[in-house]
Amino acid sequence: MEWKTRITEMLGVQYPIISGAYGGFGTSEIAAPVSEAGGLGLITAHVLKTPEGLRQDIQKAKSMTDKPIGVNFSVGMFPHEDDMIEVAIEEGITVAETSVFKAVKQGTRLKKAGIKWIHKVATVKHALIAEQHGVDAVVIVGMEGTGFKSVDQLPTLIGISWAAKQMKIPIIAAGGISDARTFLAALALGAEGVYLGTAFMATKECPIPDKHKEYIRDTKPDDPKLMNKVLAPPDPKDLERVMKQRSQVPHGEWMSKLERVLLKEDPDEKQDFEAEAVLKLAPASLAVSGIDSIPTVKEFIDSIIQGAEDILTKGIFAGVRG
Ligand SMILES: Cc1cc2nc3c(=O)[nH]c(=O)nc-3n(C[C@H](O)[C@H](O)[C@H](O)COP(=O)(O)O)c2cc1C
Repeated sequence: MEWKTRITEMLGVQYPIISGAYGGFGTSEIAAPVSEAGGLGLITAHVLKTPEGLRQDIQKAKSMTDKPIGVNFSVGMFPHEDDMIEVAIEEGITVAETSVFKAVKQGTRLKKAGIKWIHKVATVKHALIAEQHGVDAVVIVGMEGTGFKSVDQLPTLIGISWAAKQMKIPIIAAGGISDARTFLAALALGAEGVYLGTAFMATKECPIPDKHKEYIRDTKPDDPKLMNKVLAPPDPKDLERVMKQRSQVPHGEWMSKLERVLLKEDPDEKQDFEAEAVLKLAPASLAVSGIDSIPTVKEFIDSIIQGAEDILTKGIFAGVRG
């Protein structure tokens, strides 16, 4: 079956499946296998710390696959952002994702260099603003997802279908997607691609300790601790306190505090972008629902595609088993 959407056409990939940005560990080690298996892997620029570090990792990725690789720029939180964008341009990257904060300056530069610009948001309101600013596609993360959250975030089911009624550019769905059923559901809602964070962490290639992969494999989506982290609203007092600090502390520091409040962590804990600290803050999302093993990236992508094709061709919808 051919999986052709505006996203596969735009990115030059076989399947409309993208792996997420990861603070702490989002390098070529996870990005290249995703691209090689037919999806789009993203290198997370700030993990490489310096422009030269990013250049070396892009070159490493190119030695691992000749398929397209993308770079994520998590805006406003890290030094060297402009120089890193120039490195991505020099290295011939064809698609880049911006996230976390508004990215008109960064996106305009990327587009001028002929790079496809994807922007990731947590709300439909911000997706519509991004469209007005000329992004080529948006990732909308529903509240089942993890990473940077928002107080006015909708569940994936509602957010994607509502956005699809209003937007002209292609939408990529994120938040809680982890298997054939959630992949197909996202496309049925109106998305033209999916974007998976938690699910790709539980693959053999992901450069995180096994105990985190096993946590994702073994945790159920109705685990109260996980639900509290991912779904519960922030403590209003903590949120108010952090909102008041907005213009008083450096922007990156403030964003980190806000992220902690939204994930029910202590906002005043020292910010730390090393892998262990990032994994403690955002260990997984409700996407654990579809994960019951730790396959290779290729086995995982193939299982999504095979499962989706079975559902479509053999009619294996809920209750109707072919
Ligand atoms: C450990 C971890 C670190 C993350 N770091 C970043 C980051 O630095 N920048 C970013 O834009 N998103 C980051 N994300 C969010 C993911 O890229 C993605 O949007 C999210 O995981 C999607 O939801 P899902 O986990 O349900 O698939 C992170 C997610 C996790 C789990």
